[in-house]
Amino acid sequence: MPRIALIPGDGIGPEVVREARRVLERVSEAEGLALELTELDYGADRYLRDGVTIHDDEFRALGEDYDAVLLGALGDPRVPGNQHAKDILLGMRFRLDLYVNFRPCELLAPELTPLRSIAGPVRIEIFRENTEGEYTGMGGGFKQGTPDEIALEENIATRKGVERIVRAAFEHARSRDRRRVTLVDKSNVMRHVGGLWRSVFEEVGRAYPEVEQDAMYVDAMAMDLVRRPERYEVVVASNLFGDIVSDLAAEVTGGLGMAPSANIHPGRHALFEPVHGSAPDIAGTGRANPVGAIRCVGLLLDHLGRPGAADRVRGAVVASLREGVRTPDGGGDRSTEEVGAWIAERAVSARPEAQG
Ligand code: NAI
Ligand code: MG
Repeated sequence: MPRIALIPGDGIGPEVVREARRVLERVSEAEGLALELTELDYGADRYLRDGVTIHDDEFRALGEDYDAVLLGALGDPRVPGNQHAKDILLGMRFRLDLYVNFRPCELLAPELTPLRSIAGPVRIEIFRENTEGEYTGMGGGFKQGTPDEIALEENIATRKGVERIVRAAFEHARSRDRRRVTLVDKSNVMRHVGGLWRSVFEEVGRAYPEVEQDAMYVDAMAMDLVRRPERYEVVVASNLFGDIVSDLAAEVTGGLGMAPSANIHPGRHALFEPVHGSAPDIAGTGRANPVGAIRCVGLLLDHLGRPGAADRVRGAVVASLREGVRTPDGGGDRSTEEVGAWIAERAVSARPEAQG
């Protein structure tokens, strides 16, 4: 029986995870999929109460005892510097070596894009490298506070690190029948790191001749994602470029409240979380959009090898958008719970293929 850890976390995290759990429970029941769900209280409240972010043995348990983790959000204004969020989130990312940050950006209803018009359906699947680049904290400062101050932030790229994320992108394209993989870099200026990405992309790509392959400089990519987002299918990028490009693609396809993500070490660990944070400004108001978290349930079910169950979730989300069952950020007047309950009901009442 697959074991799932739920970490609701802070702010709107618990509100959206409650709805995601509702959908997960209903759909898995309808599909005859028995799951063991365990809620873990890692977050600001526990940290403020006990001074504990997360223990070593808890990290170990997250890695060994569960088939997947679903996380709401971490971040609380009462915790200076959000130490607990860093410990837990970055801790999992680095200690479990979750090197794939998968961010699917799909426009589920045409009017959700802020763009005036788009020439076709948009489904951009971004593979962001999650353990290297400019995000390792390697670097330092010198002569701080003086006019001669120097700051260094190293950009780390290893052959192993680049190869495994590029391969994950190509494997995904092959197994999901996607036509094209696009590499995003800045290799015209950043020759060392960019050069490694280009040559690894070419080498790995040779094993996938059926997949079209191209490369974009990140600045041109930013422009093109606004000009013709429908062109892109699978995109692979470094940590920094993937971070930026995926926020842009998420906004083009409906915004923060709608976007899901997965942090994965293929074959070993998977952590699913909506792209948004804990939104303290709307926590407790019932205005949080649960769709990002609910789409994470779709990714999770897919990860468990249940594409039919994942299709139910997707179909029900599309139906909720079409029928205007939306929270205020999506132009509706429904509460978090109303949207979650509607989607859960719809997901089990309609046959997936009939939901569109
Ligand atoms: P945020 O994503 O929490 O909120 C940005 C804006 O979007 C806010 O106006 C918020 O109300 C709105 N928003 C976010 N999610 C929404 C949803 N589901 N439905 C409707 N509106 C939504 O980002 P912000 O404000 O920069 O950060 C707030 C806290 O969250 C901070 O402590 C930050 O560190 C943390 N954070 C945590 C993340 C995580 O757990 N992975 C990711 C990003 C931020
Ligand atoms: Mg970001």
